[in-house]
Amino acid sequence: MTAICPGSFDPITSGHVDIIKRASLLFERVVVGVAKHPPKKPLFSAKDRLRFVEAVVSGQKGLRAEIFDSLLIEFAQKHDARIIVRGLRAISDFEHEFQMAQLNRKLSLQIETVFIMASPEYGYLSSSAVKEIAEFGGCIENMVPSVVEEALRKMYSK
Ligand code: PNS
Repeated sequence: MTAICPGSFDPITSGHVDIIKRASLLFERVVVGVAKHPPKKPLFSAKDRLRFVEAVVSGQKGLRAEIFDSLLIEFAQKHDARIIVRGLRAISDFEHEFQMAQLNRKLSLQIETVFIMASPEYGYLSSSAVKEIAEFGGCIENMVPSVVEEALRKMYSK
């Protein structure tokens, strides 16, 4: 069975990595979908965001990453995937996730959204928080893959 792990990944965090790896233990194939035009204007280009995700998934069995520029449901259909996996951190995530899951269900009854609860050590993490910490020169070690840490350091040292 194929599952899609979609997101903006601007940039991918250790919390995302945890969800992607746990999803890959549940499904034969997991395609990480990097939204080309996410809801919020991204800091990193789609190509860079994909590169960071690929650094994490490359060589991992059953895992691959791809940019998508369509409805998520269409991306899932293209991959013959019947599952969308989303991570949930706190109640504050719930309302938005609930709306997205219901909208996606309106678009296709064949595709189910399933949620994986964030591991406690990543419950506080978000891409926005990481960018803010990096912008002010704070330490983001262990919050993001090293390739992202490096890219953020470079970006904000300019
Ligand atoms: O990491 P994010 O920003 O929470 O991811 C949101 C994302 C990219 C998964 C969502 O905005 C999305 O699915 N965009 C594709 C367009 C779409 O299908 N929209 C309808 C569902 S709300």
